[in-house]
Amino acid sequence: MYTLGIETSCDETSCAILNNFEVLSNVTLSSLREHKKYGGVIPEIATRAHLKAMDRVLKEASIQADVPLKKIGLIGATCKPGLIGSLVVGLNFAKALSVALKVPFIGINHLHAHLFAPFLNCAHKLRFPFLGLVISGGHTEIYRVDDFNKIKTLGETLDDACGEVFDKVAMGYGLGYPGGPVIDRLYDQRYRKDFDFKCGRSGFDLSFSGIKTALIYKRNELKAKGLFDAKTKIRLISSFQYAVCETIIRAAREAAAKFKIDRIVCGGGVAANSYLRRRLKSEEKKARLEILVSPRKYAGDNGAMVAGLGFYLYNKRRTKSPLNLRAEPN
Ligand code: KG4
Ligand code: ZN
Repeated sequence: MYTLGIETSCDETSCAILNNFEVLSNVTLSSLREHKKYGGVIPEIATRAHLKAMDRVLKEASIQADVPLKKIGLIGATCKPGLIGSLVVGLNFAKALSVALKVPFIGINHLHAHLFAPFLNCAHKLRFPFLGLVISGGHTEIYRVDDFNKIKTLGETLDDACGEVFDKVAMGYGLGYPGGPVIDRLYDQRYRKDFDFKCGRSGFDLSFSGIKTALIYKRNELKAKGLFDAKTKIRLISSFQYAVCETIIRAAREAAAKFKIDRIVCGGGVAANSYLRRRLKSEEKKARLEILVSPRKYAGDNGAMVAGLGFYLYNKRRTKSPLNLRAEPN
């Protein structure tokens, strides 16, 4: 069965076509460049960019998959969470298409879809329960997943999302936007403990706004003393990345131990981070856990993960959504 997945929760317009769980195409057009000068995503610009791109992205996905729209059997689209204007564009487009093609439609929680990314192309066998770790620009969530329709939140961020602090620290350090990939590239393992930065934790809830402020204060302090040079900048951001990644890993490992779960599944834009990926691999051996991380190309927002989860819920759990389903930003 061919499933079309549509994702428009933030600044990426993405359409993918899957044959069961096999990804035939996954086309993403980002409006990132239009937001760069503002240092963050501007909702109005993102909404307009989705309206402009939707049609083209869908056509390209159909061409690349070599699947004409009339062969599509199911449409999945992100309905929550995200920017309301962006969600409404993708969701309404999906609903209209499902009426035109006379095929079922299913609304998808895109955070849950991030956890489906490691299972695309049947790269791994789906086995429940697992501990879900979603780390992205808007969210930091730790879930107990007993099935994709039985998900319980164990912990989340109390303030900024982890990707958001990468972005804000990078802006404060003049490294541009988005900050995650830049900090990832500049990270130098030798300096990871040069500064003792800490993230907040309360149970399995995490807090990242304190470390963000600490980084900015430290920059100001060193600047005032004339000590903020290029090398110091790298020492600071390496210590920052180390602290954030280690906090996330520790929280996930402890949650898995507490709830006696032997499998962790990790997705979201920050799952592309090289240090985090290396550490999760070493943790897998050390802690005797199975840890599945989203392939880099499906870590950020994309239509393939939405289609994959849509097909799973429809095919295995007989789920579909009514056409009056609403977009929910939170
Ligand atoms: O999942 P995503 O594409 O969008 C949301 O749902 O938010 O995540 C985007 C976030 C941004 O904050 C970006 O800086 C971060 O993922 N990111 C990274 C890396 N690549 C993207 N963070 C750390 N290391 C990376 N390599
Ligand atoms: Zn996302």
